[in-house]
Amino acid sequence: MLYLKSVENTKPHVDRISYPYNIPSIHSLDKLTFRSPVTFIVGDNGSGKSTFIESIAIKSGFNAEGGSLNFNFSTKESHSNLYEDIKLIRGPYRFRDGYFLRAESFFNVASEIDNLYEGDQAKLEEAYGQSLHQCSHGESFLALMHNRLSGKGFYIFDEPESALSFDSQLNMMIRIKELVDQNSQFIIATHSPILLSYPDSEIYKVTDSGLELTHYEETEQFKLTKLFINNYRQILNELGL
Ligand SMILES: Nc1ncnc2c1ncn2[C@@H]1O[C@H](COP(=O)(O)OP(=O)(O)O)[C@@H](O)[C@H]1O
Ligand SMILES: [Mg+2]
Repeated sequence: MLYLKSVENTKPHVDRISYPYNIPSIHSLDKLTFRSPVTFIVGDNGSGKSTFIESIAIKSGFNAEGGSLNFNFSTKESHSNLYEDIKLIRGPYRFRDGYFLRAESFFNVASEIDNLYEGDQAKLEEAYGQSLHQCSHGESFLALMHNRLSGKGFYIFDEPESALSFDSQLNMMIRIKELVDQNSQFIIATHSPILLSYPDSEIYKVTDSGLELTHYEETEQFKLTKLFINNYRQILNELGL
């Protein structure tokens, strides 16, 4: 299911001057089309992945710091104004569930969830399994995936692998598949060579000239991980380690 079919940047090129347009990929961004229920965004640190998906999340009605559609808290205003310039071209159906998961501010979201359910432990457990602060970082991600996300959803994840073990990433992919089968759409910024293997997904690579489609085995995440695993002794040696 595609709730979001494409994103267009309506800012005239001549007006693309200050932040976030000093980021080359954002400066060149005109239109991006989504064709698969799972779309990955890959690219170096600082290339603009978070800036881009955050703008989609805010424009879709999510809190800039992450959470579900009805979260409305803020600990600091750190998002760019790109969301004001983009236009979302939506599919014919509305999503019923949604979540913007940012690894870097997940602690705040966990606190907000605890606050929302304060004094109603039964309801919290029903929604999330348990207090997310009582889980390890990785466990809380999986608790959220399994207990909170309910399908027919539009889910935007920013580096969801950051707290997850190899096994947990496989677990996450199985849960993604269940949610896709229940008519969900995912947009995921990631560095994970595991998550990127998700079948029938599309991968956009963030480059200075915009976002370009690529294939799993052509990503640096795949090629460099493979190279490292197969040659780690020699590579460590060359690094003087
Ligand atoms: N509030 C801000 N003001 C100016 N520059 C920023 C701000 N926030 C992020 N940046 C810069 O924007 C660039 C892209 O950041 P980001 O989208 O977070 O990259 P990525 O998620 O790909 O690692 C980085 O170089 C970062 O330093
Ligand atoms: Mg980022």
